[in-house]
Amino acid sequence: MALCRSCNKPYESFISFGPTPIANGFLLPEQFTDEYFFELAVGFCESCHLVQLVNQPERERMFNDHYAFYSSTSNAMAQHFQEFAETTIRDYLPSPDPLVVEIGSNDGIMLKHFAKQNIRHVGIEPSANVAATARAAGINTVNRFFDEAAARDIIAEYGQADAFLGANVFCHIPYLHSVAAGIKLLLKPQGVLQFEEPYLGDIMEKTSYDQIYDEHVFFFTVASVNNLFKQHGLEVFDVAHQNVHGGSMRYIIGHEGTHPISAVVHEQLLYEEKQGLYQIDTYHTLRHNIERSRDALHDLLVNLKRENKRVVGYGATSKSTTVTNYCQITPDLVEFISDTTPIKQGKFSPGVHIPVRPYEEFQAEYPDYALLFAWNHANEIIAKEQAFGRDGGQWIMFVPRVEIQAYDLVRQP
Ligand code: SAH
Ligand code: TYD
Repeated sequence: MALCRSCNKPYESFISFGPTPIANGFLLPEQFTDEYFFELAVGFCESCHLVQLVNQPERERMFNDHYAFYSSTSNAMAQHFQEFAETTIRDYLPSPDPLVVEIGSNDGIMLKHFAKQNIRHVGIEPSANVAATARAAGINTVNRFFDEAAARDIIAEYGQADAFLGANVFCHIPYLHSVAAGIKLLLKPQGVLQFEEPYLGDIMEKTSYDQIYDEHVFFFTVASVNNLFKQHGLEVFDVAHQNVHGGSMRYIIGHEGTHPISAVVHEQLLYEEKQGLYQIDTYHTLRHNIERSRDALHDLLVNLKRENKRVVGYGATSKSTTVTNYCQITPDLVEFISDTTPIKQGKFSPGVHIPVRPYEEFQAEYPDYALLFAWNHANEIIAKEQAFGRDGGQWIMFVPRVEIQAYDLVRQP
């Protein structure tokens, strides 16, 4: 039995996806024999309601000098982070010469909006290649993992922060107590922490189990986030649901007692309770739904293969590593995966080794079906792929359910 990373109580796993490779570990044929696998399993802590991976590979296997995810590949996300930066400047940077700290700042997609306005900022980014891209764009970036020791170093060099930001990174860090202790020290008395991560309520509603992979060690709710930060004298005073990445929640946190608690926090806690997110039975239902989804997707692809149809994957997302490995989607079922990220092209997908090819190859000869691995960017993708649809191409969706859809019917889940 594992111990909860937040409250230290024992908890049990409710699903295992079996041996799974590093989600962003796109590789070359000479690396196939040494490929690393770990057991991808998820558990629910009945004491503090935190959903978490039972095992996570060591951090350097995931975040290093060849990290494959560059945030700025999606225009919709670029727009989203511009808005995140602008609301932060408007609402939370009142003092003269404020300081903004962002962890997991990647290629600088959000911090560049602070840099442009000459606002003092520090990005903490352990993956050297994406950190170098940010630096080249003039964004002040420190290449290290954030934890309490890093917080002390930032204070020594820059002083305390007015705003502490993160997106799709808090759910990556198993040592969240060290992170929270660091933030407690780093935030000015009225300073505000804001971070957003895929929301467990959406994963449950949409059976979007592909959010479960090595990097995502936590699947948060308002309750589990508040439980963790309260242990460090910090509390959630506002939340805001976001439509990005299949449904995310932004948590807005301050030192305990410094900000009135918004009614939205109470409403969201009520929603979580009604959804059964605090009950183990709900997770058994989730497992059942995931197994059904796996079987339906595999059967659909096998049938299309029998009919000699060409199927190509769209978007070599890290999420797709869970889907391809768990559903046994091999290169005989999906010919290649189209992706715009140069570092992924010419490589093979983790575990099942489907070739990853440049987007131009998708455009050059449209397949019969495109399996939309990047379903969370559906609006952006469908808008630019009208020609594929007019050519008779159809989309295979698997969130919220497995189905074939004509291009004019696809809706972003
Ligand atoms: N915020 C960006 C990037 C998310 S990917 C976005 O939403 O698009 C997660 C990022 O967190 C990666 O760039 C990874 O290198 C970084 N990361 C992982 N562990 C971290 C840690 N302990 N401290 C700071 N960044 C971390
Ligand atoms: P994303 O879903 O953002 O993240 P994750 O890796 O966390 O699951 O990944 C999007 C991937 O899809 C990325 O490799 C770039 C690719 N992509 C395209 O190939 N074309 C597009 O139009 C978009 C928006 C993304």
